[in-house]
Amino acid sequence: LDLGTGSGIQALHAAQHATRVTATDLNPRALHITALTLALSGAPAADLREGSLFEPVADDGTYDLIVSNPPFVISPGARLTYRDGGMGGDDLCRTLVQEAGDRLNDGGYAQFLANWQHVEGEEWQDRLRSWVPRGCDAWIVQREVQDVTQYAELWLRDAGDHRSDPVEYQARYDAWLDEFEARKVKSVGFGWITLRKSAAAQPSVVVEEWPHPVEQPLGDTVRAHFDRVDYLRAHDDAALLAGHFVLAGEVVQEQVGLPGAEDPEHVVLRQHRGMRRATKVDTVGAGFAGVCDGTLSAGRILDAIAQLVGEDPVLLRDRTPSQIRLLVEQGFLEPAR
Ligand SMILES: C[S@@+](CC[C@H](N)C(=O)[O-])C[C@H]1O[C@@H](n2cnc3c(N)ncnc32)[C@H](O)[C@@H]1O
Repeated sequence: LDLGTGSGIQALHAAQHATRVTATDLNPRALHITALTLALSGAPAADLREGSLFEPVADDGTYDLIVSNPPFVISPGARLTYRDGGMGGDDLCRTLVQEAGDRLNDGGYAQFLANWQHVEGEEWQDRLRSWVPRGCDAWIVQREVQDVTQYAELWLRDAGDHRSDPVEYQARYDAWLDEFEARKVKSVGFGWITLRKSAAAQPSVVVEEWPHPVEQPLGDTVRAHFDRVDYLRAHDDAALLAGHFVLAGEVVQEQVGLPGAEDPEHVVLRQHRGMRRATKVDTVGAGFAGVCDGTLSAGRILDAIAQLVGEDPVLLRDRTPSQIRLLVEQGFLEPAR
């Protein structure tokens, strides 16, 4: 399901791997263009539905995949359909996320671009966590934050308003800032929201900020994230220590410290694939990651490290699982097959 299909670009992508594609839009013209996009590209025709959000598919079943690049812009009024959700604040994105839960098959994914408000006196992460529907795991990545003035300028320019009469431009700009002030909005976050219907008793909801370049496309990385969530949920600390891990491909170690110093001040593991994450580790973490080729269990590796550094192996086994968990969660280590 591609919700708010516009030119049909995402329906076209979906047609490459889905047996059936439904595309919706509030604007009937968009549906005509989507039909044209698919036909010109030799893709199978999609089921095209006119209407708002999930309304046009209300009587249909559930989906394996829902994608949307919705009209997420937070603006005063609903002047431009391509951009303005028209529900006030970030309510359109919230509604989309909340309603997606009931529309997914078990194991199905929903993936949205979205904007969200950073409101005075509220943690933005809490706002997003409150959107996640029951029965879904979620991975939410904030890619960028703009203060309200930058944001208003960006979207006025996007709509070509900067070329209009300066008095009119100023009035629009003021209306935008007045709206933000009334809602106590300080800035606006932009990012990706991915849901997976898991029906897990303890859903995993990861809300994080990662503004750095990533390796596109990220489809495999997204799937791997949720696979790791399943793995970690099913393995307590004892099971982690009995597990075997391999270092993910193209992870390197970086060390920072004074020239000639015996020990580095910081050791960082850095990925060159996927999210291209970097994380600080201690010498045990770095040594552990370096040895992970799937041969020895995590516990056996820690015992060997304990012997090398002269630490009590019981204490080391006690304190290290949280670090291993983090390295697995972030994709530096993968459970060996
Ligand atoms: C940002 S555009 C995205 C278009 C296209 N999916 C893309 O990624 O390029 C948002 C689309 O959502 C449509 N739209 C606006 N309000 C909507 C609503 N309430 N329900 C469904 N679609 C809506 C607009 O007409 C527009 O085509």
